[in-house]
This record gives sequence, C-alpha cells and structure tokens, in this order.
Amino acid sequence: MEIKKGQKYKILFVCLGNICRSPAAQGVMEQIIEEEHLGDLIEVDSAGILGYHSGELPDKRMRVHARMRGLELTHRSRQVKHEDFEKFDKIIGMDDANLDDLKDIAFTLEESKKIVGISKYFRLHKGHDCIPDPYYGGSEGFENVLDLLDDACRTIADEIKENKQL
Ligand code: 4NP
Repeated sequence: MEIKKGQKYKILFVCLGNICRSPAAQGVMEQIIEEEHLGDLIEVDSAGILGYHSGELPDKRMRVHARMRGLELTHRSRQVKHEDFEKFDKIIGMDDANLDDLKDIAFTLEESKKIVGISKYFRLHKGHDCIPDPYYGGSEGFENVLDLLDDACRTIADEIKENKQL
C-alpha cells in the first residue's frame, strides 16, 4: 500500500492482553518515529484480543524494562474492535494465536489482508517466528520482547521511508 500524500500510514499492534507486548510495540515504534522525524508519515496504536485489562496501564514489569531503555509506556489497554479494520492500514499480531483471533474478527478478504505477523519484520532475529508472551515468565522475557520489537520496528520504519508495501 502506497502512502497517499497528506495521509498517515496507520498501524495497530495487537497482542492478547494489550498490557505487555503491543503497548511496548507502540512505545518502541513511537520512539523511532520521533527519532527519525516520521510523525507526518506514521500513526500507531495498540489493542488486545482480550478486554480483561481495559483501561489499565501496561504491566509494571513491562514499564520497568521499557524505562531502562528510555521508554515511558503510557498507553491504556483496550480491546480490538471491528472498526479497527476500517481505520488501520496494517494490523500486526505478536504470535500465531493473535493472528487466528484477528482473522476471526475481520469480515472481508480486504480486511484479512491487513493482518500480518510481526516476525515478517525481523531482520536480526530471522529464526524467530513470534514475540513470546512474557506474562508468566521472568525478566529475560521482557528484555526479549524489547529486543525483538526494536528489530521489527526499525524494519517497519525503513520500509515506510522507502514507501514500500508493508
Ligand atoms: P500481552 O501479555 O498479551 O503481551 O499483553 C498478556 C497479558 C495478560 C494476559 C495474557 C497475556 N492475561 O491473560 O491476563
């Protein structure tokens, strides 16, 4: 999809709870957008398959690990909704379960085509096929999330800059 003149490319990151991986993805992407002055080109949001944590800030552990990299995560959790498929150009899931759940929410083929797995954008972590859920694990899981997200988000920024199809 080409970025049309005067329009932003809208990306929605999705995970299960919208309190760990996808709000971190949003934060990492927003930091890159700021660093690279891409604010006129890209808009980012995040949402969860589940609504259990709606209105909550990201998980404390995720915020602590993000802060260690200079990122302040302030997104409030929300559940993904069908209208997201109308608003966003690309809906990026963190693992295969997210992708299956997103496909169930899409109505049309055009909407389904907006869904993509984050692993498509790994350049330094090519052997990985998802961003594993860190929720029930230790601190290394949260660091892994941020490493993988940094890799993927830099690819996304580069591809948008080159105006490539994402
Ligand atoms: P996330 O992690 O999908 O990366 O936000 C999770 C957070 C909460 C739950 C599952 C995963 N939960 O079941 O409450």
